[in-house]
Order: sequence, then C-alpha cells, then structure tokens
Amino acid sequence: MSRGGITSGFIVSLLGTLLLPGCAGVSVAPADNGTQYVLSYAENQKEEYPTTRGAQYFASKVEEKTNGKVKINIFPEAQLGDETSTIEQLTFGGIDFTRVSLATLTDYSEEAVVLMMPYLYRDSDHMWRVLDGGIGDEVMTSFEGSGIVPLSWYDAGVRSFYTAQRVDSLAGMKGLSIRVQPSALMEDTIRALGADPVPVEFENVYSALQTGEVDGAENNWSSYEAMDHYNVAPYYMEDEHTRIPELQIMSESTREKLPEEYLAVIDECAKDSAEYERRLWQEQEDAAKEKVLSSGCSEIKISSSEKEKFKEAVEPLYEQYCAGHMDLVNDIRETE
Ligand code: GCU
Repeated sequence: MSRGGITSGFIVSLLGTLLLPGCAGVSVAPADNGTQYVLSYAENQKEEYPTTRGAQYFASKVEEKTNGKVKINIFPEAQLGDETSTIEQLTFGGIDFTRVSLATLTDYSEEAVVLMMPYLYRDSDHMWRVLDGGIGDEVMTSFEGSGIVPLSWYDAGVRSFYTAQRVDSLAGMKGLSIRVQPSALMEDTIRALGADPVPVEFENVYSALQTGEVDGAENNWSSYEAMDHYNVAPYYMEDEHTRIPELQIMSESTREKLPEEYLAVIDECAKDSAEYERRLWQEQEDAAKEKVLSSGCSEIKISSSEKEKFKEAVEPLYEQYCAGHMDLVNDIRETE
C-alpha cells in the first residue's frame, strides 16, 4: 500500500512474508515468527528522547501482549516526514501511529486550540489534573470524524524563548524574528509579544538559528538540548509562555482493519506508555538543563512582574481563539 510516495505502515502479512516497499528499515515479516500485523510509528525526536522512549515502551508492550502478533516499527528523527506531513499520512492510513505536538493538530479540532493557549495552566500539576480529568477525554473525543484517533497524552514540559543575543524582557522581544511551529495561534502569540513569527519545521530550526534566518525560537529544555539549539542560541529566558501537551495518535483507517482484541491491547499499552513517558520527562528535562547550563548557556530568570507583562500581552488571544469555547477555558482555569 503506497500512497503519495509514502509506504503504508499497515501491513497484513496474510501470506506470512511481506515486503514493505520504500520504507527503509522495515522489510520483511518473517514467515515463521507468527507476526500478523506490522505497523509504523512516526516520531520526530531522537532515539533517546522521552517521547521516543515512550514509543519504544509502547511497541514492546503491544508485541508482548499480543504474543508477537502485532509488531510496531518506530521511525524516529522525522524519517517518515515532518509532523504536518505525518499527520496527513496518518489520516489516510499511510502511517499507523505518531506522537505529535498539539500545536500541529489544531486544524482537526477547535477544542485542541484551547489546551495550548498561552499561560493557561498554573503549572505542570494543574495541566495534568485537566488532561487526566474529563477535559482531556472531551478534547480527545473532539477529533471524531477527522481520521485521527487520540490514544494518550504525553508530557512536553513548558516552553520558553531562546535567542542568539541576550533578551531578558518583553521589551527585548520587539522586532525579533522568532521561529514558530506551523500554527496560527503560535504566530499570533509571537506578534502579540512584539516579535515577528517565522514558521519553520522542527528539523530545520537548528540551521535557521545558525544562519541567522531567525533570531530565536522557543521550546522546552529537553528539545533545546536534544536538537543542539543551545549551541546557536545560548540565552534561554524562562518566560514559560505555554505548555503544549502532546498526543499519541492512531490512524482511524488502521483501526478499522484490526481485530477488537488487538485494539484493546493497543489502547491499554498507549496509556501505560504515557505514564512511562511522564516519569521519564522530569528526569530527562533536569538532565538536559544541567547539560546546557554547564556548557556555558545562560538561564535568564524573569521577575513575576515582568512575566505579568507577557501574560497581559497575550490575553486578547483568548477572545480571538476561544470565543466559542469560553466555558472550556473557565473549566480549565477553575480546575483545582
Ligand atoms: C516539541 C515536540 C516536537 C515538536 C517541537 C516543535 O519539542 O516534542 O514534536 O516538533 O516541539 O517545536 O516543533
């Protein structure tokens, strides 16, 4: 099954042996090992990153619990394409699973936008109480009919700005060109803060920083370290403007082809893998921060009154992006 030049990850090995054309890494489901389904999982982070380790855990649990009948091959480092394109491929079954930032899923659900609004959560615990409570499930349900089936929420910490030249205030953001994820909300957030947004896919951010195409970017400590951005943008200002959770998602068209018993295993293992990833997250984030700071990068802390200025600047975005969902915003804000 090959569409648009990309090989489908969904392979039913009815004859025992199947060749996956064009998909480097996966080729044969050996005739004698009992594998019935070989599925693909796209990741844009590196092998040792918490979300990829979560994916590996997921794949190994699924394989174990289906007695080797379902095998999931993981393709890290955007081998199957950037996030926007892997989501598109997944909607028609060209890729079976992926884990993506919610920022790249907002075209598929209006409610998803709410969950990534700037300064929405008080802290990480608040975000997890929201996602693990009814609201997380409600937003997952809002993807119905999109071809995407959300499986579990993964952690991605909190995002802050980092720049090639020192910036330590809202005033310092003025006129800077800042890389953003391909997301209208992120672009408007940057504009509201006085800077110019430049959408660049994750894989190309390092070179955009290095060549000076952008003055800065924004992300969590773990990505800042894993993608070597700290080597080209050594000033990390902890404005903590947004927490964007990540979703592990599955193709609806793949689900239609799998037996119920395997779907139940997949759903359960996805939730377990999210717990695993969340445990890893804190540990790896601390290690990433320590590594970049010991390499000579500056951690710029801003005062709470300065942070208030950032919050005030982005507040109008709530009216623009959440007008039809203010109840949801209020429910989130009121979550204890
Ligand atoms: C996070 C996320 C990536 C995403 C990236 C980005 O680091 O884990 O999947 O691509 O943000 O800023 O694009």
